[in-house]
Amino acid sequence: MSLSSIIKNIPKTELHLHIEGSLTPELMWRLAEKHSVTLPYASVEEIAAAYNFKDLQSFLDLYYAGAGVLKDEDDFFSLMWAYLVKCHEENIVHTEIMFDPQTHTERGIGFDIFMPGFLRAMKKAQDEFGTSSYLIMSFLRHLSEENAFETLEAAAPYYANIQAVGLDSSELGHPPSKFERVFKKAKSMGFKIVAHAGEEGPAEYIWEAIKLLEVDRIDHGVRCQEDESLMRYLKDKQVPLTVCPLSNLKLCVIDNMKQHNILTLLRYGLLVTVNSDDPTYFGGFLNDNYHALCEALPITGEDIKTLAKNSFTASFLPEEVKQTFIAQIDDI
Ligand code: HPA
Ligand code: ZN
Repeated sequence: MSLSSIIKNIPKTELHLHIEGSLTPELMWRLAEKHSVTLPYASVEEIAAAYNFKDLQSFLDLYYAGAGVLKDEDDFFSLMWAYLVKCHEENIVHTEIMFDPQTHTERGIGFDIFMPGFLRAMKKAQDEFGTSSYLIMSFLRHLSEENAFETLEAAAPYYANIQAVGLDSSELGHPPSKFERVFKKAKSMGFKIVAHAGEEGPAEYIWEAIKLLEVDRIDHGVRCQEDESLMRYLKDKQVPLTVCPLSNLKLCVIDNMKQHNILTLLRYGLLVTVNSDDPTYFGGFLNDNYHALCEALPITGEDIKTLAKNSFTASFLPEEVKQTFIAQIDDI
């Protein structure tokens, strides 16, 4: 089987996806018209053309501005539904989706607006496609820990719908240690824990996420290679890394996909997975990320299968569900 048929046909999970980062220029345009929001662009094409980033912050500035068109429950439904249709097309059978409540609550849009919209789309995808999905509530690390505590409290009516708590936004200068107490609280409440670390920040931030936040997964983590003892730890404990190749390229974490270290990390024995991060901003959904790796690196069909199996192992699915899908991949 060709690499592209393997990519297309194997069941996969996606574990690192920001729902606000799946807003297409077309939907942004439509919602801007619907709500009479003035965008600094003259057309859908101009929106897409603006997606040239020099680093994480230059992306985040546009990403937060883009989310400004999301106002009512239907908007959040449309956003989530469009992503889940894409999952169905790409044979993503399960997805663990991050959302940034503070991006909306700061604009006066509360949990009772976005959560029902998200949940309605997730139920429809489960019913119509059999696609399962979990939610990861992510705190914005450029805001205070107190604000994260308030967000955790505001989510109370929806705790049963949220599987994990995460940490995203501007990494440099906002280390995991800033959020040690709120993550301790979230952990004690039974949430799984993830955190972005080692994307632009140093290997030390990955250690902090492990030791202080007690993460179940690291989002990105590609800078782990700078610390040999960290590499050994990640291998021994099989701490999953949710790697996002096109994101790393678009945000200039690497200059060229040929420089991407995912294959090196995989060969070393780390539990690495492939993900799209913010697909409409970074030029590709999940399968495009697999394709981009295949074009740049000497990846085999077995590697693709291992990466897809890792995506189940690293997920928060029940063990027996993981094993069923892993067995299906082994049979391909
Ligand atoms: N890094 C940090 N914060 C983010 C990202 C990312 O890649 N995408 C959306 N928020
Ligand atoms: Zn991310």
